[in-house]
Formats: sequence, C-alpha cells, structure tokens
Amino acid sequence: MDKYTLVTGASEGLGVEFARLAAKEGRNVILTARSTDKLEALAKDLRSDTVDVVVIPADLSDLSEAARLWSAATEGRIIDILVNNAGLGYNGPFSDPQGWERELASMQVNMLTYTYLMKQAIPHMESYGGGRIMNVASTGGFMAGPGMAVYHASKAFALHLSEAVATELRNTNVTVTALCPGATATNFFEDADMHAVRLLKFGAPMKADVVAQDGWAKAFAGKRIVVPGVINKVFANLPRFAPRALTARVSALFLAKS
Ligand SMILES: NC(=O)c1ccc[n+]([C@@H]2O[C@H](COP(=O)([O-])OP(=O)(O)OC[C@H]3O[C@@H](n4cnc5c(N)ncnc54)[C@H](OP(=O)(O)O)[C@@H]3O)[C@@H](O)[C@H]2O)c1
Repeated sequence: MDKYTLVTGASEGLGVEFARLAAKEGRNVILTARSTDKLEALAKDLRSDTVDVVVIPADLSDLSEAARLWSAATEGRIIDILVNNAGLGYNGPFSDPQGWERELASMQVNMLTYTYLMKQAIPHMESYGGGRIMNVASTGGFMAGPGMAVYHASKAFALHLSEAVATELRNTNVTVTALCPGATATNFFEDADMHAVRLLKFGAPMKADVVAQDGWAKAFAGKRIVVPGVINKVFANLPRFAPRALTARVSALFLAKS
C-alpha cells in the first residue's frame, strides 16, 4: 500500500500550503474540506506522474463525516502524516446568542474532529511503521481570549491534547506537533468576523507559506510545540511572566474591534 499525507482544511489558507509542501516532497496527498471545487482545483495543480492526489470532501463539524473520511482515506492506503488543520473561529461577545451556531461548529471541528482523527491515526501509524501528526493550534491556545472565548478555549484544548499525547507517545514511532501560529494572512479573519480587530493593526500578519513551512520542518524534526515568528513567541510566553488576569486583559484589547 502507498503512503499518503492527509490534510484537513485543504481548500484554503494554511491547508493549501501544507498540501503543497507534501506534494513538493513527492508525497501522495489526500485533501479534505467542504469546498469540493477548490479541492479539485488544488488536486489538479498538485497531481504529477509521481504524486497521487485524492479529494475526499467532508463536513468535519459532523463526527460521522469525520468517520467516513477516515474510512475512505485508509481504504487501500497508509496515512503516515496527518495534518489536523481545518478550523474556524467566531469573534463576538460570549453572551451574544448569535454566535452559538458558529461556536458549536468551531468546537466540533477544532476539538472533536482533531481528537477523533488522532485516535484513528495513532494505532494505524504504529502498525505501519510510524508517522507524524501535526495539530494546528494557535497562540490563542496559550491564553484566554475575551471576545473569542470559545475559539481560544478550543485552541488551548488542541495544544494541551497535543502535548499530552506527544508525551504518551515519546517512546514510539509516532510524533505529535502543535503548530501555534499568530495572525496569518488567510481567509480566517474574514470568516471569523475579525477584519476590524486591533490585532491586525498591530502588525502585518505572517504569510501562510512561511508559517506552514516552519511547522512542517519542525514537525519533521520532532518538535512538540512550534510558534512561528518573534512577536508570536512573545505573545505565547506572556502568560509565563504576567499575571493571568493581565494577560486576559491584553488579549481582550487585541481582539476588540476599533
Ligand atoms: N489565520 C490565522 O491567523 C490563524 C492563526 C492561528 C491559528 N489558525 C488556525 O489555522 C488553521 C487553518 O486556518 P486558516 O488560517 O488557513 O483559515 P482558512 O483560510 O479560513 O481555512 C480554514 C479551512 O478549514 C476548513 N473548514 C472550516 N470549517 C470546516 C468544516 N466544517 N468541515 C471541513 N473543513 C472545514 C475550510 O474549508 P471549507 O470552508 O471548504 O470547508 C478551510 O479549508 C485553523 O485551525 C485555524 O484555527 C489560523
């Protein structure tokens, strides 16, 4: 059986970059997200004589879809790299009932599907000689996010889950890496209704290809946590030096619209 890299959220942003990196290294790729047309266009671009690209559309806010994805992906194939990247957020007060639908979807995609796919991937990878899992978390995972409470909490989940499982697997041939980007130039901000947040006025977001490359290279080096960029490293380390209440206030300031 041939080996494949499974990239979730491969229709946009960071997911496209991960798929490009895998294909560039001559790896076969499975692309998934909801936007079939975008996945097919990327597949056409990446396919070559030496690289097979498979498209499996799925709505990952539905666990039965995640199960269907895993079973279709592993039919006659080995997944040796899993990039848990699909994710979404919502910017708005927690008390506003308007946010619920999107917050629910973000919890389902950012936490349940990540966990489910890891649970499937680990024994599968162990039985086929090992593998790598990259969970795309966020610098938001290091601190509470007033104004994006559910999103930050979901990324704290992804970060802690990755770290814990990486430790459990330390003597095995499967590694787990949490990639924790800060603001990155993708559709994420528009989608999460974040276009006017102060964070974006603080500095230019990092380029998606740079963030993906950093995560990819360090995942292969076996790093557990990757925070691309100097400013993001400062943010990620803030809770270690500042009182938690102050960190949350700083976070609120950057997530507020001005
Ligand atoms: N951009 C940033 O500043 C930033 C910072 C830190 C962390 N991150 C994280 O990076 C990851 C990638 O985000 P991005 O910045 O590349 O954002 P993006 O451009 O908005 O891409 C998000 C991807 O997730 C997929 N997705 C969303 N909901 C889905 C669902 N229900 N089922 C299946 N796929 C779904 C989207 O595909 P479809 O819409 O086609 O389904 C898309 O491919 C996310 O986990 C995000 O939280 C981003």
